[in-house]
Amino acid sequence: MAQKTILITAGPTREAIDPVRYLSNRSSGKMGYALASEAKRMGFKVVLISGPTHLAKPGGVRFISVISAREMYQAVMKEFRQADIIIKVAAVADYRPKKILRHKLKKTSAILNLALVRNPDILAALGKKKLKKQLLVGFAAETQNIFKQAREKLTRKNCDWIAVNHVDKANQGFESDNNELTLLAHGNQQFYLGYASKRILARRLLRTLLAVAV
Ligand code: CTP
Repeated sequence: MAQKTILITAGPTREAIDPVRYLSNRSSGKMGYALASEAKRMGFKVVLISGPTHLAKPGGVRFISVISAREMYQAVMKEFRQADIIIKVAAVADYRPKKILRHKLKKTSAILNLALVRNPDILAALGKKKLKKQLLVGFAAETQNIFKQAREKLTRKNCDWIAVNHVDKANQGFESDNNELTLLAHGNQQFYLGYASKRILARRLLRTLLAVAV
């Protein structure tokens, strides 16, 4: 793996409302960081682009810290060409406040309407720009019709693989140390990676990619 580079995005993004508040999601970054350290252990060169998390940086990886979806987009666009495999685990916020207020918002009315605008879809942009040698792996976090929606996402975002997070079940997925994953590829290929710690699943995911796709 010495010559192969893997680019991983992890964690949530934060979308500022004003100097003290933001919109975000429940992603802890654990799955992406587990993938980064396992990939490093397996001999890949690793670039980890991460939103804000409470996790320690994995050793020996090139670490790029970002806050918002737009910052993540820019970092990914700068880095992706050198990668052989790109794994987009990050839970990117789909929307951001239309305006970032310069001062802390004071409470006045009983109902507050916040105007939101769409963030760039980083995975879909990569699906359009990816190079021939590159393997693009997305993640799908759905709470209903998970396989149907993930297959649709695989095609729509032009990924080579999509890892389905079974976040519909309790005690797994967001914030948890455990997860349940299924890898889907075109042509109805499907690999159930099981319910296990994120570290074990990271190893299984990378080994499956190496065995089947690289
Ligand atoms: N993703 C991304 N940029 C976004 C939103 C999502 O790169 N603005 C990527 C995630 O990193 C993940 C994949 O898209 O690899 C799926 O994320 P998910 O939230 O499940 O998908 P959405 O596209 O947001 O789902 P939907 O179309 O149902 O809103």
